[in-house]
Amino acid sequence: MILTRTSLQCRECKKEYETGFRYVCDDCFGPLDVKYDFPALTKETFSNREHTYWRYFELLPIESKSNIVGIGAGMTPLVKADNLGKKLGLNSLYIKNDSVNPTFSFKDRPAGVAVSKAKELGLSAVGCASTGNLASATAAHAARAGLPCHVFAPSDIEMAKIAQALSYGANYIAVDGTYDDANRIAAQIGDSRGIGVVNINMRSHYVEGSKTFSYEVAEQLGWHVPDHTIVPVGSGAMLNAICKGFEELQTVSLLDDVSNMHMIAAQPHGCAPIVDAFKKNSKEVVPVENPDTVAKSLAIGDPGDGRYVLKRLEQYDGSAEESNNQEILDAILLLAQTEGIFTEPAGGVSISVLQKTVEQGKIDANDKVVCYVTGNGLKATESIMKVLKKPAVIKADIGEISAAVD
Ligand SMILES: Cc1ncc(COP(=O)(O)O)c(C=O)c1O
Ligand SMILES: [Zn+2]
Repeated sequence: MILTRTSLQCRECKKEYETGFRYVCDDCFGPLDVKYDFPALTKETFSNREHTYWRYFELLPIESKSNIVGIGAGMTPLVKADNLGKKLGLNSLYIKNDSVNPTFSFKDRPAGVAVSKAKELGLSAVGCASTGNLASATAAHAARAGLPCHVFAPSDIEMAKIAQALSYGANYIAVDGTYDDANRIAAQIGDSRGIGVVNINMRSHYVEGSKTFSYEVAEQLGWHVPDHTIVPVGSGAMLNAICKGFEELQTVSLLDDVSNMHMIAAQPHGCAPIVDAFKKNSKEVVPVENPDTVAKSLAIGDPGDGRYVLKRLEQYDGSAEESNNQEILDAILLLAQTEGIFTEPAGGVSISVLQKTVEQGKIDANDKVVCYVTGNGLKATESIMKVLKKPAVIKADIGEISAAVD
């Protein structure tokens, strides 16, 4: 008998399991999703709560509030981007600015929920396979929880991300290989040593954190769903979770019908296996063996949730598009110079794909559009400097410097 308010359910065969340290179905190896016994909720339930994503506690998979490991993440600004909107011909464009989370990416959402669940399950260590951002998000939450943290990441990611994760005290394992190599090793070590690897053996709970994006956006829009949602995609976990979040709000009657929303997946050229499959009208994602893109945080050649993203795009009449390195870097500058938001290349991918989708005529001028900016530009300055001119050093002389001000 299931006594907790959540259970786990196989996404494929629907078999149910008691909540615990498990993530795949014993019968069909399908991924397990968290299923809830939701209490009655109203808009007022949330109105005076703390400004973090833990305000949605009833919709998250932690049984006891005492197990929450929080560092103040979530409730990030939903910026009405009128300057950028004007340039693109959109009257109702919003940027969900998750670059201002405590570890400067959206990964504080899934990592925080997974580390909290690891604490609740009594695990003695956590970890992650990371393209860079999850490393710091997991390490910071682990530090707060007093748990050791093992990070498995490709060796060629941005230095700022490595410095950040090391500073939080992570045991940082720089793998000489791709993200998929790091992921495979993390899975084996996690399972054999009982380590809660947040995005692998804790994945059912991990993705629940990303769902809070939809709760916040809906609440910030006065409990409405956007017409179009543009999401940067690596493994596909976030896009899938955003859909689940909106659907759950409909289940608990906080949103009306969400079936008319559109989801748009954004990937970088050089690692766009989901976009490739979408454009070929295929249901299977063919892995990219050696990803090569400036958007290192999206360099996941074999996306775990790729097949499910394709299903979501079909379900929500969506689309998928890619951008090359130059387009990504140009989009970073466009966002910075119109809205004052400085993003890393993953955010450049979503802005650039937004631009292309408008040009393709798929978004109308008056549609309500939310574009996700998921990581901070300070994490990838070496890439961004490639499109900027390094300032010349000028002698501290008023005459010489006055000339530079003209
Ligand atoms: C900044 C940023 N945006 C987007 C993503 C993609 O998220 P997902 O792997 O859930 O598709 C990542 C993944 O690492 C990321 O770091
Ligand atoms: Zn199953």
